[in-house]
Amino acid sequence: MIVSPSVLSCDFGNIQRDTLMLHHSTADWLHIDVMDGVFVPNISFGFPVLQAIRKHTDKILDVHLMIANPDAYIEDFQKSGADILTVHYEACTHLHRTISRIKELGMKAGVALNPHTPIEVLSEVANLLDLVLIMSVNPGFGGQKFIAAATDKVSRLKTLRTNLKASFIIEVDGGVNLETGAQLASAGADALVAGSFVFGAPDPVATIAALKSL
Ligand code: DX5
Ligand code: ZN
Repeated sequence: MIVSPSVLSCDFGNIQRDTLMLHHSTADWLHIDVMDGVFVPNISFGFPVLQAIRKHTDKILDVHLMIANPDAYIEDFQKSGADILTVHYEACTHLHRTISRIKELGMKAGVALNPHTPIEVLSEVANLLDLVLIMSVNPGFGGQKFIAAATDKVSRLKTLRTNLKASFIIEVDGGVNLETGAQLASAGADALVAGSFVFGAPDPVATIAALKSL
């Protein structure tokens, strides 16, 4: 299992310390949640914070954009150190163009789907994608309850991937813990994001290792 702890739940007063903790853990990626207060009803952080994290780790930065008009900022995210750039299907009018631009700039391209968005909307671009992010909460906040329908969505996405001969990674984000993570693993998830479960644990490093073993 690929594990991508979400920095959104870290202690922002100690972002260097928490980044280094993740860097020295068995986490594969660091998940970076960018929110603009327009696409989602919350504001998190932007380029300076991403650049600060980049300074302290060479692990893959898995950047999840919950912003309107992501096209305007693709290059800025690349310059700030993003390795994977995931945009929301619901925020992109010209999704094919957005995905192409992300890849042209040398990043891996991901598309996130809100809980209400059917997987079939990705059929025509599936072969261009490096990652599909299934939201198992409505985006905007850490610490929300897992939406159980995400599990079946993951298994249907896995079937769609096989049928289309696509090769994207299936990542799931929101309410992930050892119990929901185990269900997602058997449904076919390749990568799990976990924020509050990791940072709220007495031993985050051991919690990351436990998620990795799912
Ligand atoms: C939610 C964010 C998530 C969030 C997950 O909008 O996209 O990445 O950090 O937090 P938990 O794991 O606490 O649900
Ligand atoms: Zn996220």
